[in-house]
Amino acid sequence: MTAPNTTPLRWGILGTGTIAGVFARDLPLSAGATLLAVGSRSASTAEGFAATHKVQRAHGSYEDLVNDGEVDAVYVATPAHLHADHVALALNAGKHVLCEKPFTLNGAQARDLASLARSKNLFLMEAMWTRFLPAMHRLRALLAEGVIGDVLQVHADLGLPVALDPKARIYSPELGGGSWMDLGTYGVSLAHMVLGVPESVQGAGHLVETGVDGHAAALLTYASGAVALLSSSIQSAGTQEATIVGTRGRIHLPAPWWCPVELHLYRLKDKPSLRGRLGLAVVAHVLPRPPAGWAGSLSRWMARQTPRPQRLRLPFSGIGLHLEASEVARCVAAGETQSPLMPLDESIAIMDTLDTVRAQMGLEFPGE
Ligand SMILES: NC(=O)c1ccc[n+]([C@@H]2O[C@H](COP(=O)([O-])OP(=O)(O)OC[C@H]3O[C@@H](n4cnc5c(N)ncnc54)[C@H](OP(=O)(O)O)[C@@H]3O)[C@@H](O)[C@H]2O)c1
Repeated sequence: MTAPNTTPLRWGILGTGTIAGVFARDLPLSAGATLLAVGSRSASTAEGFAATHKVQRAHGSYEDLVNDGEVDAVYVATPAHLHADHVALALNAGKHVLCEKPFTLNGAQARDLASLARSKNLFLMEAMWTRFLPAMHRLRALLAEGVIGDVLQVHADLGLPVALDPKARIYSPELGGGSWMDLGTYGVSLAHMVLGVPESVQGAGHLVETGVDGHAAALLTYASGAVALLSSSIQSAGTQEATIVGTRGRIHLPAPWWCPVELHLYRLKDKPSLRGRLGLAVVAHVLPRPPAGWAGSLSRWMARQTPRPQRLRLPFSGIGLHLEASEVARCVAAGETQSPLMPLDESIAIMDTLDTVRAQMGLEFPGE
């Protein structure tokens, strides 16, 4: 038996924007990682990024980065419309790849990348960092243990207001922007993780003057009878909460659910208490003719009947991007070419769901 590979994975970052900087700051928190190189379209930008983040090598082109013989894995941190080209560039140079969300512009591109990675026997994963946070590990464990019974509903919102700017990536159709692609993808990913591939997808959204959606929503239905209700916005502050509802209780992910540090677990009692049954009898017999002031008492009583949550604290260090990097290192060391926590077929299915809603709201990206 060969010993597991314990050499740290040597990373190269492709692109030097906002999330590339966050990844560079978080990476030292990952035990199995060395930040070796960065690549930019411009040598001076690469050098500036390298100086800021103490990166050993600065490459003035993406080609030079992927052809750096000592880089093991490339983190693709460019806008969504470039993911397909940049992932292919890195795979064709023999590198393992972690690619920012949304994985690609559409399902067809995701399929092509998955085939390419498989043909080259290289690791590839969508950087859906939320999945690797401690709260998400606990959520999956609680669901697998059946703590809330059979899951019937998933609710998730991600609405973050961003000032309308035609030059901003998130407002640009050329760069694959829009609330649904950028933020809605988190809720779609959560629904796919919990419930699998939907049977039907019905969506709607409102396109703003730049041509991308300012807000969107979707209803996913499943063969099991479960449903998922998802929403996204770049024009309003949403609740940013998510809830998984089951036959025996529910798990609430308080805002911001997409980087949660705690879970609230509500379990139903096996049978209603005597007090609860008495209360229901009162509601059934007195409600049709309530005395004055009764509504306030009723709502206070109803609030007391709601089960108290068990608060599970699940903090983590940094922003949390190092945890996905650690998963890449674990998989590569184990000779796995995809992660069981974010498999390629699931990224493809997520892109298909995003595509369906985009088609329904009339959002097509240039060149598609
Ligand atoms: N995980 C998260 O929480 C999170 C947060 C934010 C964004 N993201 C995702 O990360 C990706 C990048 O987002 P970002 O906010 O970091 O973007 P950004 O700040 O605009 O940076 C993108 C970088 O890509 C490179 N690039 C190459 N061609 C480009 C082009 N035509 N236009 C603009 N940039 C180009 C540039 O680097 P060079 O100039 O050095 O070549 C640029 O700095 C997106 O897919 C986004 O959805 C994820």
